[in-house]
Amino acid sequence: MDIVVTGAAGFLGAEVVAALLRRGELRGQEISRVVTVDRVAPAVEVDGAGPRLVPAVGDIADPDLLDAVVDQDTGVVFHLAAVVSGQAEVDHELGARVNVDGTRRLLEACRRAGSTPVVVFASSLAVYGGELPPVVDDVTPLWPSSTYGTQKAIGELLLADHTRKGFVDGRALRLPTICVRPGAPNRAASSFLSGIIREPLAGVPAVCPVPPETQVWLASPESAVANLVAGAEVDLGSDRRGVNLPGVSVSVGEMVQALAEAAGPEVAELVRWEPDPAVDAIVRTWPARTDISRAVAAGFRADAGFGDLLAAHLRRIGR
Ligand SMILES: NC(=O)c1ccc[n+]([C@@H]2O[C@H](COP(=O)([O-])OP(=O)(O)OC[C@H]3O[C@@H](n4cnc5c(N)ncnc54)[C@H](O)[C@@H]3O)[C@@H](O)[C@H]2O)c1
Repeated sequence: MDIVVTGAAGFLGAEVVAALLRRGELRGQEISRVVTVDRVAPAVEVDGAGPRLVPAVGDIADPDLLDAVVDQDTGVVFHLAAVVSGQAEVDHELGARVNVDGTRRLLEACRRAGSTPVVVFASSLAVYGGELPPVVDDVTPLWPSSTYGTQKAIGELLLADHTRKGFVDGRALRLPTICVRPGAPNRAASSFLSGIIREPLAGVPAVCPVPPETQVWLASPESAVANLVAGAEVDLGSDRRGVNLPGVSVSVGEMVQALAEAAGPEVAELVRWEPDPAVDAIVRTWPARTDISRAVAAGFRADAGFGDLLAAHLRRIGR
């Protein structure tokens, strides 16, 4: 069986590719090839990956590229390529081309291939917005308050319709914000949620653009990657194919307090509180907690608490 991973050079995509190559099988079938789609080839180093890793470099909105990579042998597609929230908000054309046209054309390529692949779509909590109930569940209406959230919601609807028609077997996983994301800040509105931990631990000041009482919903990189891979194997039943993945609910103030306790007050003091109304307006529309009972029953993994997320990052950076 061949697997296609879009956005494979990104933070989560590269980890999903590495996890698939290490496993060697998915859905009880041997993985013959992992075909990656991104603007650059992913930097994945897995012993023995060799010819099983096939990079296709190009644009996710290019139908010819998609027809070349999705074929009769494609059993599973992980669709992670996206323009992230902050960038989609300011560059409307780019967001629409990548997040809407790219997703629609990928699903059309799957339809034309005719192998009814499983499609795991990396969706987001940003599909929610407006007046939310205290706990959001899988049937809370999608009412996005950002362009990115709207584009993810469109992707979910297209995935559901292609599933209903038997063109694909779709699963839309609504990921919490992933924290602590290694590397440089990105253009997601949520980027500061990793920055306020990662940068101070590297001795670099960081700005927190929302008030300390802001409640957020986070997951570790490890559980995100495990749950994306599990998304190809779980049984979500026949109708609702969108699922809120498990996360931990914590306030930004509690995050910085945990940093002070783990690394010392002088590290936490590197966080400057400078409200940014534009970021605050996006972040406050995201649910701070979702009902995870359906996800846990389906077999998705949950982190224990923010302390675990912080401890995992401290281990990663050798502290
Ligand atoms: N990281 C998070 O906190 C988080 C939370 C919720 C949802 N998600 C979703 O998970 C997915 C992966 O997130 P990530 O953090 O790894 O993002 P990322 O920005 O690190 O990776 C996205 C990848 O998509 C690629 N891409 C963008 N435009 C492209 C194009 N035109 N053609 C081909 N490839 C293109 C980029 O080159 C990049 O490698 C995304 O769909 C994102 O929306 C992430």
